[in-house]
Amino acid sequence: MDFTQRPRRLRTDGLRPLVSETSLAPSDFIAPVFVDATTDDRVPIESMPGHDRVPVDEAVGRVEEVLETGVEAVMLFGIPESKDEVGSRAYAEDGVVQRAMRDVTSETDAYVVGDVCLCEYTSHGHCGVVEDHAAEDPTLTVKNDETLDLLARTAVSQADAGADMVAPSSMTDGMVGAIREALDAAGHDDVAIMSYAAKYESAFYGPFRDAADGAPAFGDRRHYQMDPANAREAMREVRLDVEQGADVLMVKPALPYLDVVSDVRREFDHPVAAYNVSGEYAMLHAAAEKGWLDLDAAARESLLSIKRAGADLILTYFAESVAATLSADS
Ligand code: PBG
Ligand code: ZN
Repeated sequence: MDFTQRPRRLRTDGLRPLVSETSLAPSDFIAPVFVDATTDDRVPIESMPGHDRVPVDEAVGRVEEVLETGVEAVMLFGIPESKDEVGSRAYAEDGVVQRAMRDVTSETDAYVVGDVCLCEYTSHGHCGVVEDHAAEDPTLTVKNDETLDLLARTAVSQADAGADMVAPSSMTDGMVGAIREALDAAGHDDVAIMSYAAKYESAFYGPFRDAADGAPAFGDRRHYQMDPANAREAMREVRLDVEQGADVLMVKPALPYLDVVSDVRREFDHPVAAYNVSGEYAMLHAAAEKGWLDLDAAARESLLSIKRAGADLILTYFAESVAATLSADS
């Protein structure tokens, strides 16, 4: 043993903070918020403790709660009053997200992001228009090119309602380009696009699909979301979104895909986002409820690890609770 090398010297209370390579701040987080057109009261989301679906007239109050913790950005998801084959309520001027967005952007200082997808709004629960007889034939899937126009309309309707940023999550080929073009044509060249660029077909979305009532009625999403086996393919996906004008590149889920986060960080200059998804949240809560781990410590370690892997910003259901503890520490 060469005792000139003693890394433990760096770990004293005085030196540890000086040599810390990664830090977390409330301004790193985007908090997802669920707005529900089918309820007049807040409805707790059972599989996501601490999160509610809120009625439109409580959207501002909900966002103010987020802002109080020091988190400055929210992402809005909507549960519409009705669904149809083409997800009409996703791009309605008086849609649930559009109404909430108008209120939140006019009454608060939050930075407001809109998730752009159709799965919460389609009767079949897929992220786009599906081919005829897709319900009976598992080889059939979403019609890619016909979905693009609806995504573009959704993005423009959110920008019209005040969105600062739109975040397409449908894994439709060409979605970023179609949305960029439509936003620019509508005079929204200042609205940013955060692409769910490498979004995997993941088992960790389970609690979200309960929360937003967006599970596919038949089949699954493997024809459009990425195969968890593939990392090189993620680079191609991300590159295509960069070419189409994405401003921020997201990897989703986060913890099981930190290698992908790290690869995207190294390969591209754009800001990198990671989505610490509903299943990642629910499993820590479930274990903590059993007394098997310390919720706050595990949550902080998770988020710190996501940043260490290379994420600049994190979408997380822990935004408020971790932000509150960060503020309490400082
Ligand atoms: C909709 C969408 C999903 C999530 C974000 N946007 C669900 C899905 O693709 O099934 C997942 C979020 C989470 O699990 O926290 N396309
Ligand atoms: Zn979707």
